[in-house]
Amino acid sequence: MVDLLINLSQTPLALAMATSPWVVPTMQSIHIMSIAVIFISVLLIAMRASGYAWAGVSVRQTVARFAPWAWVSLALLALTGIVLILAEPIRELLAVSFWIKMVLLAVTIVISTRFLRGVKREAAYAEVDGPVNPGLRRNAIVTIILLVIIIFMGRFIAYDPLIWGPLSPISAIYAG
Ligand code: HEM
Repeated sequence: MVDLLINLSQTPLALAMATSPWVVPTMQSIHIMSIAVIFISVLLIAMRASGYAWAGVSVRQTVARFAPWAWVSLALLALTGIVLILAEPIRELLAVSFWIKMVLLAVTIVISTRFLRGVKREAAYAEVDGPVNPGLRRNAIVTIILLVIIIFMGRFIAYDPLIWGPLSPISAIYAG
């Protein structure tokens, strides 16, 4: 696995991206801006769904307004994330934080897709002053907590051996 990643990091494309003064910083900047947009969009939907804000607008209207922003940001995150991986495959793919982040992201996408299907299907979500469902409030809070942990894990990738110690395969590379 490590040999494969070393070979991948030595391909002309990976070397060109890793040594360019623009590719990694530009991708990181777009990644960070997309995090802001996805977090705010999901937060607004979660606040409306859990009854904390936006009374007077239905959950369905709130979703119609903000969910597209969240999906576009997710696409940009995936795209810029893949470029960052190609530029530095060892740093990313051997990081424990990276894999925790990916598993939590998959869980978040499943929870969110189920919620969006429910909003489309059930008439109660089209009501402006519909009652707040406690299950929905719990789901909204869990989704926000997951996103916050994903953000921490994204930042932790850079410090993986310091944070996870011997649990991080990168520690073994440093130890030689
Ligand atoms: C498929 C989707 C994603 C992929 C492939 C991906 C991949 C990456 C990669 C490779 C890095 C660079 C880490 C480093 O070298 O230091 C990164 C950074 C980061 N990611 Fe993602 N990511 C994705 C989605 C997300 C999402 C959904 C969030 C949070 C909402 C997120 C939050 C972060 C954060 C906070 C950083 C650190 C940014 C920095 O300090 O420069 N990522 N991500």
